[in-house]
Amino acid sequence: MALLFHSKIKRDDWWRAELTKHVPDLEVRFYPDIGNPEDIEFALCFAMPHGVLASLPNLKAVFSLGAGVDHFFEDPEFPHHLPIARVIDDELTDRMSEYVLQHVLNHHRYQHRYDQQQREHIWKEKHAPAARNRKVGILGLGALGTGSAEILKMMNFDVAGWSRSKKSVEGIETFAGPTELDTFLARTEILVCLLPLTEETTGILNRDLFAKLPEGAAIINPGRGPQLVEQDLIDALDKGHLSAATLDVFHTEPLPKENPLWAHPKVRITPHVASIAAPDRVAALAAENILRARAGDTLLNQVDPDKGY
Ligand code: NDP
Ligand code: OXD
Repeated sequence: MALLFHSKIKRDDWWRAELTKHVPDLEVRFYPDIGNPEDIEFALCFAMPHGVLASLPNLKAVFSLGAGVDHFFEDPEFPHHLPIARVIDDELTDRMSEYVLQHVLNHHRYQHRYDQQQREHIWKEKHAPAARNRKVGILGLGALGTGSAEILKMMNFDVAGWSRSKKSVEGIETFAGPTELDTFLARTEILVCLLPLTEETTGILNRDLFAKLPEGAAIINPGRGPQLVEQDLIDALDKGHLSAATLDVFHTEPLPKENPLWAHPKVRITPHVASIAAPDRVAALAAENILRARAGDTLLNQVDPDKGY
């Protein structure tokens, strides 16, 4: 029995040692060295080249190296009958909350203005309201969105969240579904996107949505690149309707050198680092799921294929 591993970060010996620490009889193979495809029962991966998973006749389950599973569904040949597990982990949530808090504070305290003023040697104050009077809205109230909302609430921000199904989170105003989206947007000065990438969320950060935010709102997107219509963002920033944006994810990663977002004075870019799952925790989770799959049990953090996230 073997597991096929694929990641763009090469640490093969480490992964083998870590996985076999938990499952001693597991043979770990590293793409593209698949060997006999019939031996592979599990795959632990992020963005496996398309068609590979479909070529493994005895595959029993697939495990994402991260929280997102859109990379499986992007593969047109993905075998949809397979159980999929993803990462839900306290440390991953904490790291995302750090990122969101860092960038909400930057927007709240107008740091992008001061960065620009420093470049131009301009001394000009703009006073921020108290956090309790700053309205932050989070698209997606799942593992990461809820964690971020709670940290922002601890800082006294006026936080709201939007999800597909109605949620109840202490101290957070919650909105659900398309019918409540406009009301949520109308009250949001700093918008954070922590939605999974699905058909419904592709392109959701577009000109219509921006127009429903109050003048001067800022955007933070650590969700997925294709959720943002880049040109619509640039237009909204250039017209001054949006004040600034922080982007961690992009349609094409790495972001191509010629992409206008790089040089836009109101855009801050991070290279898809908002929250990276810690390898030791991913390995332990994958090992637990291998044991569960062998015992015929439901996987931990199993994805609902109908929802697609
Ligand atoms: P979850 O599945 O736990 O949460 C997703 C949330 O989005 C849920 O609240 C869900 O609603 C909501 N949602 C999904 N579709 C819709 C929709 N059509 N309309 C309204 N709400 C919707 O995911 P996580 O919180 O674990 O992760 C979110 C995403 O963050 C990942 O999919 C990934 O893309 C991104 N990510 C980015 C990282 C980075 O470093 N940049 C790191 C890790 C993750 P409901 O609760 O009702 O189902
Ligand atoms: C993830 C990511 O989905 O790193 O975990 O983007």
